[in-house]
Amino acid sequence: MSTALAPTQPRTLEVPAEALHAFSPQTQRELAAHVAELGRLHPTGRVDAIEVDLGALPLFTAEIEASRGVIDSTTHFIVYDRVEGVDSLRAQGLYAWVLGTALGRPMVQNTDGWRLIEVYDRGIRKTIEEGARYHQTKQGSYMHNDAVNDVDPIDYLLLSCGQSAHIGGESILVDAKPVHEVLVRHPDVLAILTQDFWFEKRGMALSGETGFFRSPIIRYTPEGEPLVRYFRTYIEVAHEKKGEPITAEQRDALDFFDAVLDQSSVQYRIRLERGQTLVSADDRFLHTRTAFYDRFEPREIDMTVDEADEANRYMFRMWSAK
Ligand SMILES: [Fe+2]
Repeated sequence: MSTALAPTQPRTLEVPAEALHAFSPQTQRELAAHVAELGRLHPTGRVDAIEVDLGALPLFTAEIEASRGVIDSTTHFIVYDRVEGVDSLRAQGLYAWVLGTALGRPMVQNTDGWRLIEVYDRGIRKTIEEGARYHQTKQGSYMHNDAVNDVDPIDYLLLSCGQSAHIGGESILVDAKPVHEVLVRHPDVLAILTQDFWFEKRGMALSGETGFFRSPIIRYTPEGEPLVRYFRTYIEVAHEKKGEPITAEQRDALDFFDAVLDQSSVQYRIRLERGQTLVSADDRFLHTRTAFYDRFEPREIDMTVDEADEANRYMFRMWSAK
């Protein structure tokens, strides 16, 4: 009797319980009241211009400090559950700003000096290949880090959900650690990924000129833990612009790397629901999102007047430094 071979059934990594955090009811009340007060004081204008008084939020800051170790040292990401009473798009933006500020120093994300960015499909025709930045499009399937526009690392990448997509729009997080374990078994590939590549300061360089910097894709902490910096399209375009197109050997290593990243066994999948916030250590993970389908035609959203129920998929993004 012949034995049939069972196919392998890959599974994504399971999110550990410690990476899901619901604030206590008392902390939620403290936060909701504070956000409501900020809303009254600042009904319009840029949220990231607001000075946050963390001293007014003792319960909240204590919970952030108690959960920070999950991001810094253990799972390297956390999902904070929605806060009761924080309902409108602007309230969610104010809350995200308070959360990102409690975690660290908010970093500038574009040439306008914005430190809180709204991520949604603006319906612009330009693709990432044509120079658009990822957060302005609905293109998916680009496994990347956010710290690819500037040499400074991002300690806390925050993505807070003002509205989820009608269908899809899952976040995929790829843990650098199991990825690195695979690469160690392929030292020829690892040797190339630990060499410098060109990166472009897309949307970050002042006065319109394009700046470049060099960085390896895989590098290490002083303790020898692997860190990652990758966005293939940005790297390829940067190499073309520098007149040093990537070599056949480098392309082959990137193809290998992409195949490793595509494996379920190195991925977490999370779908953020309205009000939830994902915070991850940017240099420990690559991330991407799956395709999504929105309720309405893409359009400009004004968080001060548009209701969440009338909005398409709408996220707030912050980068914070320790
Ligand atoms: Fe990103």
